[in-house]
Formats: sequence, structure tokens, C-alpha cells
Amino acid sequence: MLLRTATRPLAPRADALREAARPAVRWGLGHALPKSVIGAAARRGDLHGRLIVASSTSSDVPVDLFDAIRASGPIHRSRYAYVTATLPVVREVLANPDVRAGVDLGTGAGPLGRLGRWAHRTTPMGPLTPPSLLVTEPPDHTRMRKLVTRVFSVKAVQRLRDRTEEIAEDLLTSLEQQGRGGRPVDLVEAYCALLPVTVIAEILGVPDSERQKVLDFGTAAAPSLDLGLSWRRFRRVEGALVSFEAWLVDHIDAKRRDPGEDLLSQMVAARDDDGVALTDRELIATAGLVLAAGFETTVNLLSNGIALLHDHPDQRALLRDEPDRWPNAVEEVLRIDPPVLLTGRTVVRDTEVAGMPVPRGAVVTTLLAGANRDPEVFADPHRFDVTRENAADHVSFSAGRHFCLGAALARMEGQVGLQRITERYPDLRLAPGATRRDTRILRGFETLPAYLS
Ligand code: HEM
Repeated sequence: MLLRTATRPLAPRADALREAARPAVRWGLGHALPKSVIGAAARRGDLHGRLIVASSTSSDVPVDLFDAIRASGPIHRSRYAYVTATLPVVREVLANPDVRAGVDLGTGAGPLGRLGRWAHRTTPMGPLTPPSLLVTEPPDHTRMRKLVTRVFSVKAVQRLRDRTEEIAEDLLTSLEQQGRGGRPVDLVEAYCALLPVTVIAEILGVPDSERQKVLDFGTAAAPSLDLGLSWRRFRRVEGALVSFEAWLVDHIDAKRRDPGEDLLSQMVAARDDDGVALTDRELIATAGLVLAAGFETTVNLLSNGIALLHDHPDQRALLRDEPDRWPNAVEEVLRIDPPVLLTGRTVVRDTEVAGMPVPRGAVVTTLLAGANRDPEVFADPHRFDVTRENAADHVSFSAGRHFCLGAALARMEGQVGLQRITERYPDLRLAPGATRRDTRILRGFETLPAYLS
């Protein structure tokens, strides 16, 4: 009896401590441990390890390591993963039914796996946590994706083109006011970030007043794709994901009460052929992914494109004389400086890749940015050439069943966004002080100061 009274007040404290320990374990298994293992492998010369370390310490794309990995064979076996920078092999992996999307660190078999599963029970919903489309496989993936595909078809996107042109023109007009008197303006803040968020927010029915909040959530959560985050950063990212989810729950509730014409209202009301709706978690995950993917990547396409065109005046001149080349120019920007550098897969059944056996449980990293520079596919691959005939053969939107749902939208926004700014400000000059974003898988600019004339 005495014992029972003594332990009773301790139980809630023990529970609280256990709950507080889960994020620390998630971080340890998902970031600290892989970081030290990879660091050690890199010091021993492992190419994949060197690649990860290089990408986490510098904003330059490690093109030489891509080339070295490709030169070592169609699929390179590193100490802890398989990795490929060969374009046909990247496509093969991404289409292979024996691999599934995503990489689970610390959730395999054994005691570490059990610990990982325990810690992941309270993981906030994010782009890489189920039921996000990015890590869901058929049949659930097929069912969920079908409900949103229609809205992003090439035809549906063509209808959005005029509205996107208007948004771009409005943003460029306010840019002009900001740049009056020869003052430099930050093109990322005032243009590249605002164009995609305005378009996707209109598609999803997010009110104007909420857009800055959504942008802030996106920026804070973007490093969630990266490996080896510091504890502070990891906590910030998880905090942002929790706030984003709470905001989505409220927003979806509002659409339930007062539906509009927008995609989110359609998703809330959608039923599959058997009359089944998305579950609440599926709805939140899909809406969150479409919203965040809708602007976190396209902002990079615009900023990478502006910088590339600025640095290649001959290509800019060509586009001025032959504006029909703009769609191909956007493909070339996507090829040479892709907004998403790589993606990961896990083998679920013993399989073969490029004729080589790859066992169940293996992790395969497909280097999209490396495949885009495969010299067997792209002649003189490190050259930026807007006339390149096969520029669109890149894999910047991935391939296979997870091929980017928003590719048509992103391409249209890239064409409108880059052509409009280039034609309106033909003498635009980048000012000193441009900085790259410190995310590692997503690649773009944090700031791009420029003089408009
Ligand atoms: C230049 C801009 C963009 C790039 C480079 C890009 C890139 C990608 C990549 C590489 C993937 C697949 C990742 C994997 O295979 O693991 C993907 C998936 C996805 N993207 Fe995009 N994306 C862009 C714009 C957009 C836009 C505007 C939307 C908004 C609708 C969007 C929505 C999605 C969704 C929902 C998925 C998940 C598809 C699935 O797993 O079935 N993306 N994107």
C-alpha cells in the first residue's frame, strides 16, 4: 500500500520523461548516428560518404563526385547504400516495383529498430512520414494520387497560365517600386518566393492573409528532407511541422463548413469509386504536401534560372531573339541546376539493378542532379545550353510512380516567371551578396539581390 502511494505521483512524471525522450531518440537515430557513421566512411574515402559530407558543408554541387560515382559503374556500392548517377539506371530504380519510396533510418530489425519504431510513434506529420504520397506505395498511393491528379493535368494547368501571367506582372510592378532610385531588391523575397505561393494558394483556396504564414512554415520545415541536422535545427523543423499540421486541420475544417471551388474543398468532398473518402490523416498529409511542394521547389527553379541566365548573357540574348525557345530553356535550367538533388529508395524484395543483385533492406540513392549530367545522354553535360535538343530528358521531377505531380504546373510557372522578368528587365544585374539556401536536398537561393536597370 505504502509502495503504491509512493509510486503514484511518479507515474505521470515517468510518462512525461518518456515522451520527452522520443524526439531525442528520433534525432539520435535519424541524424546524429548516420552523421557520424557517414563522416567516418567519408574519412576512409567512401565516395557516397564524401558526397554527403561535401553537400552538407558547401553549397556547391559536388559535380566531380557525381562523375566519380558514375565512372565507378552503373550502380556504386558504398558501405551503407547503393548509389547511382547514371541516367538509365536512375530511371530503372525509380520504376522498379521491388523498391519503395523513402528511407527509414533506425526502424529496421533488432533493438535499434524497435527503439526507432517506439520513437517514431509521435513523429509530426511531414513530407517523409506516412501517409504522405512521397512515402506511400500502391494500392494506397494509387488511390490517394488519383484524387488530386486531375487538377494538375497539363490541360488544367494551361487554364491557369493567364492568371499566372497576371500574378507575375503584379509582382514585377511592385518590384519596380521597391527598386526605384537604383536600390537593390531581393528577387527571392519579392518575386521567386511569391509567384509560386500565390498560385498554389489560389488553387488550394488559402486566403491572402494566410500566405506569409504558409511561406514561413514551408521555410522552417524545408530542412526536414535533410540528413544530419543539428539538435536545434531538428527541434525547429519538428516544431514547424506541428504548427503546419495544426494550421491545416483548422483550414480543412473551415473548408468542410464552407466549401468553395478550390482543390482543398474538392479533396474534402472527393470519394473514390467505392464511395470512400480520404481519411483525415490522408487529407492533411496530401493537402500539406501539395501546398508545400507547390512552392518550396518552384522558388528554387526561378532563382536558379535567374542566376544562370544572368551568368550566361549569350543565352539570354538568344532567348530575346527567339522567345519560342523559353520552354526548352526552362528544361535546361531544371537539368543543370535541379531544385531537388536526389531521392532515396528502400529495397523491399531481393532485386537486380543494372544486372547487379541488390538485397532486401538495401538503401538506394538516386542522384537526380548527377543523372542529369550523364555524358552518355547529354553531350558536353556541364555546359548550360538553352538550345540543347534533349534537355527535357532530365530526371529533375523524378520518374516512375512518384513522378512529380506538379511537373506541368512547375514548368508553366518556370516559363512565365523567367520569361516575364527577363523581358521586363533586360538590363537586370545581380548585386553582390547572393546566398544559397542552407537546405541540402532542396537547392536554391536564399537571397538574390539585384539592380533592375
Ligand atoms: C520545379 C519544381 C518542382 C520540382 C523540381 C519537383 C520535384 C519533385 C520530385 C523530384 C518528386 C519525386 C520525389 C521522389 O521520387 O522521391 C516530386 C514529387 C511530388 N511533387 Fe514535385 N516538384 C516541383 C514542383 C511541384 C509542384 C508545383 C507541386 C504542386 C502541385 C508538386 C507536387 C508534388 C507531389 C504531390 C509529389 C509527390 C508525388 C508522389 O509521390 O506520387 N511539385 N516532385
